[in-house]
Amino acid sequence: MNLETARLELLPLDPGRHAEALHAVYGNAAVMRWWTCPPTGSVEQTRRLLADELARPGATLWALRRTEDDLVIGMAGLLGGVAIPGLTWILAEQVWGHGFATEAATAVVDHAFQHAGYDRVEAWVESSNTRSTAVCRKTGLIERGRLPQRYEHREKPHETVVFGRAKKPDPISVLHLDPVLPVADVPATVELLRAALKARVSFTAGEPADVAGLVFGPWSTGPGVRLVRRPAQECAPLEFTLDVSAGFADLHQAVVASSVTGIEPPADRPWGTREFAFRLPEGHRIVVSTPG
Ligand SMILES: CC(C)(COP(=O)(O)OP(=O)(O)OC[C@H]1O[C@@H](n2cnc3c(N)ncnc32)[C@H](O)[C@@H]1OP(=O)(O)O)[C@@H](O)C(=O)NCCC(=O)NCCS
Repeated sequence: MNLETARLELLPLDPGRHAEALHAVYGNAAVMRWWTCPPTGSVEQTRRLLADELARPGATLWALRRTEDDLVIGMAGLLGGVAIPGLTWILAEQVWGHGFATEAATAVVDHAFQHAGYDRVEAWVESSNTRSTAVCRKTGLIERGRLPQRYEHREKPHETVVFGRAKKPDPISVLHLDPVLPVADVPATVELLRAALKARVSFTAGEPADVAGLVFGPWSTGPGVRLVRRPAQECAPLEFTLDVSAGFADLHQAVVASSVTGIEPPADRPWGTREFAFRLPEGHRIVVSTPG
């Protein structure tokens, strides 16, 4: 269905009809800097890209036509083939800075909640894509978490922010899951994980500590682990994985330079990640993973 906003008409995307106008967008390297694929090289490639996006199950995409002059200036909609409805948007560079993306995204969110029957929408945005993170916030989406991603055409992984907005407030909001590691010596393990994984201490209890909270990363909160003192024979080995978007090589160096044992060197895994691992004295196996 067509949607209308104050300055735009949202027309159901038709690759045959809209590829020519949208090639100015998808063929522009500055605009495509953030996209999941490189710029297209021809109108035909743009048409195919649009057709592929549209063919994903559940995709609902619109071409954005500016009512003032009937120019097609971009695309917005809901991605197909994703578990949670995902917003997407892209605008011709010369119309950035006029509020068109936020206007279109607001109409798409209204459609998702009022007509498509969805109870939540997400947007996955590279953390350095500040124009898009601003669009998320202006459209009422807030940050829900971060994950590492690597696009096929890029050499390095990046940090993706998952923004989300629910139709109604969620009754439950789990912010973290901190595994509890039983260890024989809490202060010694704190020192090991500080050296090996640049962990920081969020709290300790006892003197010397028999409980400690650790956060992996330089901030006050984030993924972490709790250490509790237990007799050595009760410390059944556990295993957990840290996903990192940057600093994989630095962490590996720090692990090698620390006094941890059982280091398994970096290797590519069949599920698309590159991982190394090491063990704590109790046998706990810690895996560090990044997109391969
Ligand atoms: C992301 C993208 C669509 C944002 O476009 P945008 O024009 O910056 O976003 P908006 O439509 O919200 O416009 C906001 C700007 O318009 C300004 N503005 C001017 N008139 C306005 C109006 N009437 N209403 C609202 N904002 C207005 C705002 O002040 C703001 O400018 P600022 O950022 O300089 O302060 C565009 O940068 C783009 O196509 N990027 C590449 C594709 C991309 O990254 N897609 C997402 C991948 S996850």
